[in-house]
Amino acid sequence: MCGIAGCIGSPDAGKILIDALKRLEYRGYDSAGITLGGKKLHTVKTAGKVAALEAKLLSSGYKGTRGIAHTRWATHGIPSEANAHPHLTEDGTISVVHNGIIENHQQLRAELEKKGHVFRSETDSEVIPHLLEESGESDPLAAALYAFGRLKGSFASAVLFEKYPDQMICACHGSPLVLGLGDGMNLAASDMLALAPYVSRIVVLHDGEAARITANSAELFTISGAKSIQLREEPVPGEARNADKNGYEHFMLKEIMEQPEALEHAFAGRMNGDRGVPTFPEFGLSPRETARISRIVTAACGSSMHAGLTGQYYFEDIAGIAASVEQAAEFRYRNPILEPDTLVLAVSQSGETADTIAAVREAVAKGAYTVGVCNVPDSTIARESDCRIYLHAGPEQSVASTKAFTSQVTTLLLFSLFLGRNRRLSRDDGLALMREAERIPDLVREVLKHADEIRDLARKYAWAEDLFYIGRGCLYPAALEGALKLKEISYVHAEGCHSAELKHGPIALLDEKVPVIALANRIPGQEKMLGNIRECLARNAPVIAVVSGNDTCLDSFGVDLIRVPESSRFTAPVSTVVALQLFAYYFACERGCAIDQPRNLAKSVTVE
Ligand code: AGP
Repeated sequence: MCGIAGCIGSPDAGKILIDALKRLEYRGYDSAGITLGGKKLHTVKTAGKVAALEAKLLSSGYKGTRGIAHTRWATHGIPSEANAHPHLTEDGTISVVHNGIIENHQQLRAELEKKGHVFRSETDSEVIPHLLEESGESDPLAAALYAFGRLKGSFASAVLFEKYPDQMICACHGSPLVLGLGDGMNLAASDMLALAPYVSRIVVLHDGEAARITANSAELFTISGAKSIQLREEPVPGEARNADKNGYEHFMLKEIMEQPEALEHAFAGRMNGDRGVPTFPEFGLSPRETARISRIVTAACGSSMHAGLTGQYYFEDIAGIAASVEQAAEFRYRNPILEPDTLVLAVSQSGETADTIAAVREAVAKGAYTVGVCNVPDSTIARESDCRIYLHAGPEQSVASTKAFTSQVTTLLLFSLFLGRNRRLSRDDGLALMREAERIPDLVREVLKHADEIRDLARKYAWAEDLFYIGRGCLYPAALEGALKLKEISYVHAEGCHSAELKHGPIALLDEKVPVIALANRIPGQEKMLGNIRECLARNAPVIAVVSGNDTCLDSFGVDLIRVPESSRFTAPVSTVVALQLFAYYFACERGCAIDQPRNLAKSVTVE
């Protein structure tokens, strides 16, 4: 995915747009560009990060009262100046930034080339300025409606016309776009985080909508039909204003450290009453319909899939409902069997992951009741699901998911309790589980107190080029998540593995150069895990074991220990993963890696 921003009505649009791009950089950071307009349009582009664009813009001396800007995560064509946005018409009078994928770009490009248009990049996006030119329309909105109406796929886009200096046109379908309304200045961006410092109100564009923005006005239209729509203004949410690093060196560390509060938000408003039933008023099924749910299928990707895998244990053990988890792309293409009583959960921090969106659409088409478990309000998955359960974790900006993951797991635990109490779970068992769940924020606080010890251990092992993470039961997905965290930010090979699976092949890779992180918490199955640790030690693999409280079970093993508080098998995944997040963070810092913007990655994957 990419980040786009637009600004009209500022004496220094360049400064605002560069700042907005820095806030959007989590969405992609391999190249960047900006068009500024005074009388003429001036464009500056570069391969590399926004800081490089800022320097180039400063030395160009270009200023403007309006502009559009882009930070890219390459999909079509390598990260280069030519492929960076904005893309322009040959005469340079129409400039466009785009986020999304234009599925029919080849066909459009062939058609436009036949008509004499010359393309300068390998991108799908470049068809947009040429379509605008080709429209033959004299009104910019009419030209935009024609051009966007021709696109298949997803887009969020902003357009400047040299001939119409008083306006900017925006449109979106399947990619997010938010307008920001200020005082004599209006903005647009892929994420409200980019706008929050400058505006008092926002308007979230819905799929298939376009906007005409001037310095003092904003109007909404449907792309198909040019029908005027009422502006849905809302105040900027407080959390969007709190999007800085707060003194931490990286967003990832900030987001790890703010987990106790983020997790408290996951409980807010859910723990009323003494019946042991968390409240989920947003879940639209009646108690009778809920009791009839025969199966839960979770579709998700990456960390969200690991949260879903943890939820699978909760749904089966606590709610007594058969559960499975599908990689969202598999769900989509495997023609899944969904009975009328199947509940489909789409778990996604961003709510914009292409494969998970497609899974929701597939489930809706097959008549299943769909629940979007999302962090970003009003995101595509939230909007398209039958009901939405929000995490309330606040914006997550580091590419590596931390607080969203633990909030997902906690929310799925509460949701399983809600479903369980609707079925066979007794009031007493429900209450006991609720009390246990309520400890989660404090369990995490306790882990964070030991951050320095975990840092020292991470430094000790930062030489490793291959690591295994092993777990079982509810901690098996935690092992997968720990390995994902390490590999995505440190570029070191890390593999999550069921501890019983190790000897079915992966153990062949173990030797003194391959440390194993073993999740040996005091939960059912611990005895077996101790046996698995012995197997690793017998192959000379150094072992770092996560253990509960003052457990002495590994004292005679001579292994390094990470201690997390004593907790049940249901809450241990959260506290354990927090320790693994810290380990990954300090390991990657020790190796000098770019923590918040790891190479080749972007915060959400809006392509298949
Ligand atoms: C997590 O650290 C990753 N960056 C990634 O796996 C992520 O969880 C995945 O892309 C899914 O994103 P989503 O939750 O926004 O759908």
